[in-house]
Amino acid sequence: MEIIRLDRFIANQTEYSRKEVKMLVKKGLVKVNGVVVSSTDIKIDADKDDVNVNGESICYKKYIYIMLNKPAGYVCSTKDGESPTVLELIPDEIKNVHKGIFPAGRLDKDSEGFVFLTNDGELSHRILSPKKHIPKYYIVKLNKPFEKSYVQQFAEGLVLKSGEQCLSARVDGYENDNNYAFIELYEGKYHQIKRMFASVENHVEYLYRTQLGGLMMNEKLGIGEHLIMLHKDVENLEKSCDFLTAKENSRNFFRHIK
Ligand code: URA
Repeated sequence: MEIIRLDRFIANQTEYSRKEVKMLVKKGLVKVNGVVVSSTDIKIDADKDDVNVNGESICYKKYIYIMLNKPAGYVCSTKDGESPTVLELIPDEIKNVHKGIFPAGRLDKDSEGFVFLTNDGELSHRILSPKKHIPKYYIVKLNKPFEKSYVQQFAEGLVLKSGEQCLSARVDGYENDNNYAFIELYEGKYHQIKRMFASVENHVEYLYRTQLGGLMMNEKLGIGEHLIMLHKDVENLEKSCDFLTAKENSRNFFRHIK
C-alpha cells in the first residue's frame, strides 16, 4: 500500500507540475475512482486507486524495466572492485528516481547483448528460475565449424568437463555461416555455453544474447545503449517463443558479432 498526496502522485507520474495539477483540479478534470475531486491535498492509495487526469488513466509505476545492449568489458553485477558494471551504463537521472536497479541474470564480462535490468525482485526471480521455463537465446561464434551431431548431444543433456549435468538444450547451425550457432537455454550455470561447446571439443569466440522468453532485443539499440521498457512489453518476457522463429530473428544481430 503506497499512500501519497494526490498532487504529488500526479506530478510524479506525468509531465504536469503540482501547480498545473491544481489548475486541472479546479477545472474539474481530475477524478479518483470515477469521482471528480475538488482538492489536491487528499491522499490516495497509489496501488489501488484509479486516478484519471484529463481523460487519461494514470497507473502507478512502482517498478522500472530496462533493456540494455551490453558491451564487452562490463560485468553484470551492482558492484565490482575492478571492472565497470552494467549499472554504469544507466544514467543517474534514472537510478536516482528508481532505487535498487540490478541486472536480472548475467552475461560474462566478454559477452554482449540483451541484459534486462529492473528493481522488480519477483519478476527477476521468475525469469531466472529454471522451473519457470523462460528460455534465453544466444548466437555464438565458434572457432571450428558447427557439427550436426551437436544437435542431438545438446538435446540429450551434455555433461560438462567438470562432470556437471546440463538440462536438455536446443542448438542449431546457420546455413552458409558454418562457424556460428544458435542456442536456447533454460538454465544459467557459470560460463555455461562456453563450457558446453568445450565439452564437444569446440570453442566459443564470441557470444551475443538476442532474446529472453518471448522478448527480442530491440534491433535499433546500438551496443551500450538502453531503453526503458513499457510495462505492457515486459509481459512478453514470460510468453513462450518458438525456437526456429527466435533463430530466424537472430540474423538481425549478426552485425554486432566480431
Ligand atoms: N554462457 C556463457 O558461457 N556465457 C555467457 O555470457 C552466457 C551464457
